[in-house]
Amino acid sequence: MTRGRGDVASTVAAEWARSRPRTAAATALVLADPASHLARALEESGHAVTRWHRFLSRGQQCTAWPPPGPFGEVWVRMPRSSLEAAMLLHAAAARIGDGAPVFLFGAGNEGIRSAAKHFPAGTGEVETVLTKRRCRVLAAARDAPPPREDGLDSWQTRVPIDWGTGPRAWTFYPGVFAHGRLDPATALLIDCLPPVPPGARILDFGAGSGPLAAAALERGGGDAEAVLLDHDAISLAAAARNVPTGERVLARGLGAVPGPFDLIVSNPPIHAGGSQDLGAVEALVREAPRILARRGELIMVAQKRLPAGSLLARSFHRVRTVADRGPFRVWAAAVPREVPPMTG
Ligand SMILES: C[S@@+](CC[C@H](N)C(=O)[O-])C[C@H]1O[C@@H](n2cnc3c(N)ncnc32)[C@H](O)[C@@H]1O
Repeated sequence: MTRGRGDVASTVAAEWARSRPRTAAATALVLADPASHLARALEESGHAVTRWHRFLSRGQQCTAWPPPGPFGEVWVRMPRSSLEAAMLLHAAAARIGDGAPVFLFGAGNEGIRSAAKHFPAGTGEVETVLTKRRCRVLAAARDAPPPREDGLDSWQTRVPIDWGTGPRAWTFYPGVFAHGRLDPATALLIDCLPPVPPGARILDFGAGSGPLAAAALERGGGDAEAVLLDHDAISLAAAARNVPTGERVLARGLGAVPGPFDLIVSNPPIHAGGSQDLGAVEALVREAPRILARRGELIMVAQKRLPAGSLLARSFHRVRTVADRGPFRVWAAAVPREVPPMTG
């Protein structure tokens, strides 16, 4: 995933990395920067650079937690939520020795101006070392280990979630969709799930923490199977806790999952990098016919202002509205028009 605004922040951080006096730090870890400008600048100034991403992106390794290090310095790209920022800064401080720096960089519209408060106890005074093009680079040196134990599980939140069949303890991690609650669109789709026949195979596209797969399995006759696909390794770590019997697939498209599936469920992503992007929904609707069983069905929920119905009608003969509630609509589609070739 490349975020345009991320590119500017990465460029500004790269400028700072190039302009500072050469240091003895030979290794650098860059966390969650989708752009490559900073990593390149660090390499050019003699650092061995390791990059870590939670989101799958072409040609980049992606895991649920950064490699242990230690590193000479760590750079953190400002993530989407405050909790995620705190988590990444903790992880950063756990990967350097005392006296080594943690840098946080990002754009004004991502909250970088008030981000100093996310540095963990055990880092010294946070200094703004560069402000440019509405982006900032903040720096603080570690003077003691951070308070939380290193690891994703230190950031686990468990809350009761109930979709009408009784509360269950549900695991979230920072940055996972609908952190701490059941999303209303997801809840609407769950209300519309059909009974699932015994032995059915279910695909949850954009599974997040896994509520759709879990609810569909609940509707199943006992030996139904679920595959949970997401491009976020941390979401899949939550799904592993919440739907332990499900198979998890870290991928961006349906090319990674061989069919046939009797049911595909999705509350699909409609944003990328903060702006509306229907690319993933279009790909889902276009490619679902290839992996659906002959009598299979795709059931998805989206905001009713989106052209999901007409998209579905391009790929399926039978498209019906199953529910309308508030701003959301659930569609069910069956009987593919034609099976498209595989596109990866
Ligand atoms: C609207 S959320 C729904 C999450 C979950 N199904 C729920 O209802 O709580 C969409 C999910 O799609 C994932 N996602 C976004 N783009 C994706 C892509 N290109 N391929 C696979 N998953 C993607 C996100 O990480 C997120 O978990």
